Amino acid sequence: MVHKNLPLESMGWGAAVFVIVGVMAGLPTGVSAQANPYTMVQDVQTGEVLFGRQCSVCHGVGAGGGEMGPDLTTGEFEHSSTDAGLFNTISEGVPGTAMTGINRTRTDQSVWQIVAYLRSVSGGERVAVAGDASAGERLYRGGGCTGCHVIDGAGGRHGPNLSTIGDRRSPDRLLSDLVDPDERVQPRWWRMRVTHRNGTRVEGLRMNEGTYSLRILDMDDELWSFLKKDLLVSERIETSSMPAYGDTLTDGELEDLVAYLYGLTRADQ
Ligand code: HEC
Ligand code: HEC
Repeated sequence: MVHKNLPLESMGWGAAVFVIVGVMAGLPTGVSAQANPYTMVQDVQTGEVLFGRQCSVCHGVGAGGGEMGPDLTTGEFEHSSTDAGLFNTISEGVPGTAMTGINRTRTDQSVWQIVAYLRSVSGGERVAVAGDASAGERLYRGGGCTGCHVIDGAGGRHGPNLSTIGDRRSPDRLLSDLVDPDERVQPRWWRMRVTHRNGTRVEGLRMNEGTYSLRILDMDDELWSFLKKDLLVSERIETSSMPAYGDTLTDGELEDLVAYLYGLTRADQ
């Protein structure tokens, strides 16, 4: 697959530098597992006004999504769906994207009020699931998932850490993650396929990339370093390395896996 324009990529370094500077300067690094202290009707109203002024330009009127920012009313959030997680996303932003936080310009209270407003327009409630979570856990351990994913500190580095995936995903979305992994692959999980001028071909995750060099982690967990000038071919693969499980697992097994994953939350740790 050929490279598309990559706004996320080109902004990545600046954002990374910003985050490091922020930590060194001892700036607030967000709240931890805290519930929203501002959830009264007035808070929701104030949050709505603030949202209209600062956020709707990208996220659309009523948070329904715009050209420059995603829909925030679906009840599903990529980054975190707990109150504290939303607080952190809003105050700190999402590094490497147009979503810059409002940390410097707003008080904690107004950020919480925006969280209250977003809750009022989205339906991110916990729901009951049919599957058997312990059967799901056995499938997870026996099914090769651990080679790519970390849960509670153990596992591979080829896919996202799933330790608190239940906070970020609804059961429906988890099911689609399992049966249709190519649907939305974040740039972080794109892979590179390169050919060195000595004939070596390597495919894997791009771990870091500088002006002159590139490091790739292949599927055998071997880390390769290349000088870019030595590479004859380098292609970006934008599909997921994760197999689609719709055909290899039964509906019941998929339900069990979803039940297991949905139960992985901060609260259960
Ligand atoms: C300049 C455009 C822009 C503005 C202004 C902006 N956002 Fe965003 N926001 C984005 C983009 C783009 C993303 C998606 C980031 C990504 O790729 O993960 C995002 C992501 C988010 C997310 C995470 C969604 C998820 O799925 O986890 C939240 C929550 C959010 N914005 C809230 C806000 C709030 C609240 C404000 C106002 C205080 C705001 N944004 C202002 C562009 C913007
Ligand atoms: C070869 C590596 C690999 C294997 C094996 C694998 N995954 Fe994944 N998985 C990934 C990658 C890469 C992503 C991120 C890209 C995407 O969305 O597909 C991902 C994404 C996910 C997501 C969405 C998480 C998120 O934050 O976006 C879930 C849930 C998930 N995998 C569960 C599983 C389960 C359960 C199994 C075993 C049945 C499994 N994976 C096997 C590589 C793998």
